[in-house]
Amino acid sequence: MHYAKVQKKHAEKLRDALAKNNLLANNADVLHSDSYVLFPVTIATATIKKLIRQNGGMLIEKKGRAQGNAKSKINRNKEVAKGYDILGNIAIVETDNPSSRAAKRYSEEIMSSSKRITTVLAKAGPVSGRYRIRKLSYVAGKRTYVADMIENGCRFVFDVRKTFFSVRLSFERQRISALSKGKENVMVLFAGVGPFAVELAKKNPRSSVVAIELNKSAYEMMKKNILINKLKNVVPVWGDVGKVAKHYENFADRIIMPLPKDSHSFIAHAAGISKDKGNIHIYMFVKKDNPAREAMKKLRKELGDSGKLKLLKWRKVRDYSHSEIEVVLDLRLNKG
Ligand SMILES: C[S@@+](CC[C@H](N)C(=O)[O-])C[C@H]1O[C@@H](n2cnc3c(N)ncnc32)[C@H](O)[C@@H]1O
Repeated sequence: MHYAKVQKKHAEKLRDALAKNNLLANNADVLHSDSYVLFPVTIATATIKKLIRQNGGMLIEKKGRAQGNAKSKINRNKEVAKGYDILGNIAIVETDNPSSRAAKRYSEEIMSSSKRITTVLAKAGPVSGRYRIRKLSYVAGKRTYVADMIENGCRFVFDVRKTFFSVRLSFERQRISALSKGKENVMVLFAGVGPFAVELAKKNPRSSVVAIELNKSAYEMMKKNILINKLKNVVPVWGDVGKVAKHYENFADRIIMPLPKDSHSFIAHAAGISKDKGNIHIYMFVKKDNPAREAMKKLRKELGDSGKLKLLKWRKVRDYSHSEIEVVLDLRLNKG
């Protein structure tokens, strides 16, 4: 596990910088000693190392659990909640009993750990349905469901009850955006409130991006996010990929498909949208054993003879269930 280690006097500044960029890992505890605070971080690249240094800290790797004299306050409440995600002003906790006094106390501690977090909500069900949204219940702080956050230098405003947004894809957005160079046509299918489309369009101003989303609320928020990020090179489209794809035949040099639950069933539509020799980045849930082989088998079966897929690279994005993981595959399509 990688940590950003910082003297206590600089801890708040560094914590805010990490939170702002969604770099705080949710799968490990914040550690405290007499003089230092250690924040677990999601990724450890040279850019992150620089950001940590600029905010008075240093990046370290730590195996196992750290021993500290003082325990984190939030640590002590581990039995109340399994962890939390930060979406700018809103923290979303996982707890079995959101209305308990313990959950309220835990929420107060989260809010006092950062000035930016002013609302705490709790997960009240799984991500489900076509729109991939989940029920949330209010726990503490300001009663709002509108998140206002910065991710990788882009601002996003959206209603957390009506739309999908996962901070765990933050690194993927950075990675894919960095792959887009020069004048290229990019298609984001299943675009949500626009995080892939907005970041890519901002980082590569010479790109022309089309972003398709079915959920009207998410589409409306994507329009807003394109505006607040002052982008002229993204066209948002409200519609079903299965129906809209035919209007974009041979359009894209690059296609992004972030619907892991069943994006594979849209691969033939993606092939129609792609130019010959296009790049496709597809997110999928697969079994832990032989993930890339299983994914490629599924995709080739769905694609039939609409083209040939070459696997350039794959990586695990996150654990999904006890037997499944989410992966992303970078593919080259040859329509022949
Ligand atoms: C897992 S979310 C990803 C959203 C966004 N790309 C992100 O990274 O935050 C998938 C999105 O696909 C949308 N969606 C599901 N089926 C769709 C379809 N057939 N056509 C267009 N969008 C669809 C959902 O409404 C949801 O917003």
